[in-house]
Amino acid sequence: MTEPLRLGIAGLGTVGTGVVRIVQRHAQILERRAGRPVEITAVSARTRDKDRGIRIASYAWEDDPVALARRDDVDVLVELMGGSDGPAKAAVEAAIAAGKDVVTANKAMLAVHGQALAEAAEANGAVLRFEAAVAGGIPVVKALTEGLAGNEVMRVMGVMNGTCNYILTRMESAGLTYEEVFAEAKALGYLEADPTLDVGGIDAGHKLALLTAIAFGTRVDFDAVAIEGIERVSIDDIRQAADMGFRIKLLGVAQMTGRGLECRMSPCLVPAGSSLGQLEAATNMVVLEGDAAGQIVLQGAGAGEGPTASAVMSDVLDLARGTRLSTFGQPAASMEAAPAASASAPAPYYLRLALVDKPGALARIATALGDAGISIDRMRQYGHAEAVAPVLIVTHRTSRAALDQAVAGMDATGVVSGSPVALRIEEV
Ligand code: HSE
Repeated sequence: MTEPLRLGIAGLGTVGTGVVRIVQRHAQILERRAGRPVEITAVSARTRDKDRGIRIASYAWEDDPVALARRDDVDVLVELMGGSDGPAKAAVEAAIAAGKDVVTANKAMLAVHGQALAEAAEANGAVLRFEAAVAGGIPVVKALTEGLAGNEVMRVMGVMNGTCNYILTRMESAGLTYEEVFAEAKALGYLEADPTLDVGGIDAGHKLALLTAIAFGTRVDFDAVAIEGIERVSIDDIRQAADMGFRIKLLGVAQMTGRGLECRMSPCLVPAGSSLGQLEAATNMVVLEGDAAGQIVLQGAGAGEGPTASAVMSDVLDLARGTRLSTFGQPAASMEAAPAASASAPAPYYLRLALVDKPGALARIATALGDAGISIDRMRQYGHAEAVAPVLIVTHRTSRAALDQAVAGMDATGVVSGSPVALRIEEV
């Protein structure tokens, strides 16, 4: 086939600009690899007369992305506007209704509407792909959908929000509080317009919901992701976890156990020497575990113009080459609801508490743990000038229910000041 593949780009922000740059700069490489030219025929964005540092005058302009999606000279809608609903979803639906393929970077839209959109695409003979929606330039969707297609996936883990990893690692390296580094990240332009998407774990939760669907063949279900953000991680936790040989990460974990599908995005401790533990700054990392392949670790830039545009182009090239994969690696209509996990898999936990410094206090804490059937692995009490002593405990593997029982027991002793901090230690 030598007919050009004609793209309509909806959204000319950072990623859209990057896609235009790649199509223009690498026209020959793309044509050689696809066996046909890849061209942009039309674009759409909120503002037309803005200097983006790219040449778009030769492309047709549409104010309305839905009109762009319906154009006869557009084969593929490349949706780079963002937002779970509104114009992005309307344009994608219009393209699908017209039987056109869609490439999108829109994790929020897919996490919420991905199942319905994928089913609609299949019903209309269209392809809907989203490599750029998860972990920016890391080709993790392809790795799961194609590279590990012969495996039963055991577990998917990942640090998939660079802003949170920047905040956590910078707190540790500069000894700054969460509030101080949050302000710094904001000044650097790292945070989304709604910062809760980043620090509240929602952006990373969207990404995990998508990977979970591919890994386990289950219907996309963002509501099934148990999400906790990093807002309450203190510099004390970071320092003291480091002292015990751990680092704190906003970690996504999805695994199918005998109890059902567990899917959570939350601050966790990981061994400082592990690949995840060593991940610095705004970098992303995804760890995939297959029964045949074992553990695969992918690391790279999770955001930014080049990396995200690179991921968009990998989907575009698939379409140009005639590779037509289903959205989540199997027919969307055949995906089944995940069995909700009745409880999370047992794990060791890290506990930090401020203990009133009087005889018998530590014994009461140990009793609360013992009464809940929890065994202590390691414990440390720090020197202190105040009336309360900082105490750290690392437990052996236990259930979350037992841990909650122990924490309630500790609260009832009257020797704990404030509430204990409890963080899961992920065995990576
Ligand atoms: N805000 C995200 C991050 C990138 O910090 O990783 C877009 O998902």
